[in-house]
Amino acid sequence: MFSLIILTMCGIVGYVGTSPALIVLLEGLERLEYRGYDSAGVALIENGRLHVDKKVGKIRELVRSLWGKELKAMTGIGHTRWATHGEVCELNAHPHTSCSGDFALVHNGIVENYRELKQKLESLGIEYKSQTDTEAIVHLIDLNYEGDLLKAVLKTIKSLKGAYAFAVISTREPNRIVAVRYGSPLVVGVGKNENFIASDIPALLPFTREVIPLDDGEVVDLRPDGLFIYDFEGNLLTKEVMHVPWDIISAEKGGFKHFMLKEIFEQPRTLGDTIRGYISRDIILPFSLRDFRRVVVVACGTSYHAGLVGKYWIEKYTRVPVEVAYASEIRYADMPVGENDLVLAISQSGETADTRFSALAMKEKGATLLSIVNVMGSALDRESDHTLYTHAGPEIGVAATKTFTAQMAVLFALSVNQSESAQEKMENLLKVPHLVEEVLSKSEKVKELALKYANSTDFLYLGRFLNYPIALEGALKLKEISYIHAEGYPAGEMKHGPIALIDEKTPTVALAPRDRVYEKMLSNIEEVLARKGKVIGVGFEGDETLRKVCTHTIEIPQVDEDMTPFLTILPLQLFAYYIADYLGLDVDQPRNLAKTVTVE
Ligand code: M6R
Repeated sequence: MFSLIILTMCGIVGYVGTSPALIVLLEGLERLEYRGYDSAGVALIENGRLHVDKKVGKIRELVRSLWGKELKAMTGIGHTRWATHGEVCELNAHPHTSCSGDFALVHNGIVENYRELKQKLESLGIEYKSQTDTEAIVHLIDLNYEGDLLKAVLKTIKSLKGAYAFAVISTREPNRIVAVRYGSPLVVGVGKNENFIASDIPALLPFTREVIPLDDGEVVDLRPDGLFIYDFEGNLLTKEVMHVPWDIISAEKGGFKHFMLKEIFEQPRTLGDTIRGYISRDIILPFSLRDFRRVVVVACGTSYHAGLVGKYWIEKYTRVPVEVAYASEIRYADMPVGENDLVLAISQSGETADTRFSALAMKEKGATLLSIVNVMGSALDRESDHTLYTHAGPEIGVAATKTFTAQMAVLFALSVNQSESAQEKMENLLKVPHLVEEVLSKSEKVKELALKYANSTDFLYLGRFLNYPIALEGALKLKEISYIHAEGYPAGEMKHGPIALIDEKTPTVALAPRDRVYEKMLSNIEEVLARKGKVIGVGFEGDETLRKVCTHTIEIPQVDEDMTPFLTILPLQLFAYYIADYLGLDVDQPRNLAKTVTVE
């Protein structure tokens, strides 16, 4: 099952009930916009016939094309497509319809044997209209239909190879949606006289907070008055309904210009919520990290940076060696792993393919799999031996912010848990939300500097020790939302190469709180200044030396060195945000990126 690894980032929404489906579909699709997409479409069963509308571009284009059409259908499916097979055009956009015109289907993932299936379909005289792999599925369902949509789907999936999630409707059974999960996320929303399907929980939140995340290898049969879940053999399964604790407000912008800005400013609360979940010494886990000979952290992007910070804390407080690996790299590295190892997978979404499958490969070799995830019920959550949640609520901005600080909070609690100084250390952590609020209240100064440097084309971010991963994270934030080249580097390593980049046009952001490497950082800052580089120093309040040395300073409250990453990252998040906003860029949905990367 876990060899199926090539998935896509598209969005699926489906509705069957007693209200107009179109409203649900459009609202749901809008809430999936953050996944990244290039076209959108809906299919509805209107007066016994299929009505399909698709458009290239944003959902507003689709809304425009639907304008004035009085569609009262109570069954429908919708989709946002992120192209994998076939160019971006209306023909390739979903939903796809079958040869008879009676079936419509939306799909995430890749059908790996679609060429073979297409050939078979064409040999039967079926005209293949698009360049997609998806179209094969809907034709097959049509061919396999003998009066029962569920049976046709169960028969069809036997001939599919790959990883996918799809939802299908048919005019022959207008009050029914059948959907399948096999490698790509899919969640059922449970309503009263109505039921929903979506690829992600935020799409369901305006309508219901009662959900059932499907597992790989499950099929759901949805009708207005009930739903049934089966395995691929057609055996009925019993699944628990989960209550989603988020409210819809937390998935909306709440007065901020962008989700990213809202999420940055939410950090005092999200950190407070996360820390409160780990305040007791004993509740965290049934084992101690010291029971293992090694901890292997696997993660991607921002979650990987959180893992790098966690390494310092875990090694300091438990003396257990930690390796932090990019999930995409370690997966094919043949690393010796076994029963004595703890794999710590870190993922906001819990759906990142690289993270999931590298962690699962190690679990299969006998390692214990512990995960830190934000999305309860996500694949990684369900696949892990134990999960620690970040209680950060839904993160909509593609650039991770509040989930990064929440991940660090969980990592810190995990590191000090069961150490002699646990109580004292957790008291330090408890003070963090308030300090975060204090730093954020001085955002204007960061904005001023951001506007001053917004036209620079290259940046260097330097840090050492606990703030080296923060330099990496600050550079990643700037790259992904402002498209400005930025390099994060360990400050002491700079003289071995990157120092050649320094000139008067390349500003450096230097993280220099008064920690054990402070003096060394000052020397590294001097090295930059000596080469005419401008330096924005991030350091402690009242640090006269730093003020004198740097071109500009951004100040954070004085804290124990362990707590510095929680504060130094904040100006860097804001700096990236204000530059991207000043440049007029799409902050929440940067080009080429998707919130959840379910492709390898
Ligand atoms: O959901 P995950 O934490 O597994 O996602 C990992 C990365 O894709 C993610 O952190 C990505 O780097 C973000 N765009 C960073 O802002």
